[in-house]
Amino acid sequence: MKAKKGLEGIIADESAISKVIPEKSSLIYRGYSAEELAKHSSFLAVVYLLWKGELPSQNALDQFREQEKQARKTDKRILNTLKECAKAHPMDALRTAVSMAGSLDDSTWDDTDEVLEKKAMNLLSNIPLWIAAHSRFRNNLSFIEHDINKSFIENFFLMCFETVPKKEVLSAFEASLILYAEHGFNASTFTSRVITSTTSDIYSAVAGAIGSLKGPLHGGANEQVMYMMKEIGKPENAKEWMLTALKEKRKIMGFGHRVYKKGDSRVPQMFACAKAMAEVTNNTKWIEMYTILRDTMLEQKNIYPNLDFPAGPAYYMMGFDIEVFTPLFVMSRISGWTAHIMEQRKSNRIIRPLCEYTGPIEKTVPLKGVL
Ligand code: COA
Repeated sequence: MKAKKGLEGIIADESAISKVIPEKSSLIYRGYSAEELAKHSSFLAVVYLLWKGELPSQNALDQFREQEKQARKTDKRILNTLKECAKAHPMDALRTAVSMAGSLDDSTWDDTDEVLEKKAMNLLSNIPLWIAAHSRFRNNLSFIEHDINKSFIENFFLMCFETVPKKEVLSAFEASLILYAEHGFNASTFTSRVITSTTSDIYSAVAGAIGSLKGPLHGGANEQVMYMMKEIGKPENAKEWMLTALKEKRKIMGFGHRVYKKGDSRVPQMFACAKAMAEVTNNTKWIEMYTILRDTMLEQKNIYPNLDFPAGPAYYMMGFDIEVFTPLFVMSRISGWTAHIMEQRKSNRIIRPLCEYTGPIEKTVPLKGVL
């Protein structure tokens, strides 16, 4: 049996949560188009959909919003740890906070459906608080308490920046969270399912998923995109920069995808978010650069941008530090990871594939001397 490098094309299990349809460059969450949800729905309604299988009624959504607010906690022990980690990369600090929350939860091993969903809500609700707290500490700023009267997204901006931005910014950010929420058996989701399959706990699965997402070939790309754009400096340099990078056979961050070959379904809507931010900031520089880089890559290699390409400049124009971009991805993808953790739990079999052995066989162990 031959190994399939990177598990390309392998169907590893069944899932009813989402489907990428590469032929149509589309993505559905439980049957609904992710693009349409990003235009017309709210992030918490999408989380409800991913976890429970259907969109909520208004009443159910109001209750769900209230549950999210009630789950927010100011845990001094986690805040102190985040302060200790002020110089760490925000993804490392966030992974540590999740791990610590697991150590502090005395019901870690309780995995009934109800308890598991409660833990998922605690993570969904508190991850933004930990991201915001760490982003303040790393900039030598003081912690801002959460405000129970503010929505999930308003509260996050408040805790990061002491102020709630214009509604155009809130809408663009909300759409970005919906687009980042779920994407089939990507590397971090698969990591969370592998960990869950051993009947380990939700915190371990999420901490592992964060470690997986951090890599620049996965979620870490949104950060790298912005470093690349800042290195390019101005739109006039973009074409030549791209031609040189391609000549040097460099991997360009924010381009390419394992599954989509004719374009990532989420890009047009995320690009619309970036354009909205260009209008709010009255600065079209990053949009112009984006367009030149995209067109040059398509013309030279026929490789399309992925979601992380427009997300980079969109988050930059919203005012986030570049190192916080991948944690923003976590703030959203926690919804998809936890939906998969719950699904894996319900129909579990330990994930244990084979490898194609390429080492030597039948060597003789020396009887004396060497050991
Ligand atoms: N820049 C330049 N060339 C790229 C490229 C990129 N971003 N993405 C793919 N290619 C080229 C590869 O060099 C390869 O060419 P070759 O066949 O001549 O060697 C071909 O396209 C296939 O790429 P490969 O790396 O085998 O695809 P993959 O399915 O293993 O990897 C990614 C998919 C996403 C990891 C890969 O496209 C990548 O590294 N992209 C940049 C990181 C990124 O944006 N990640 C976020 C993903 S959502």
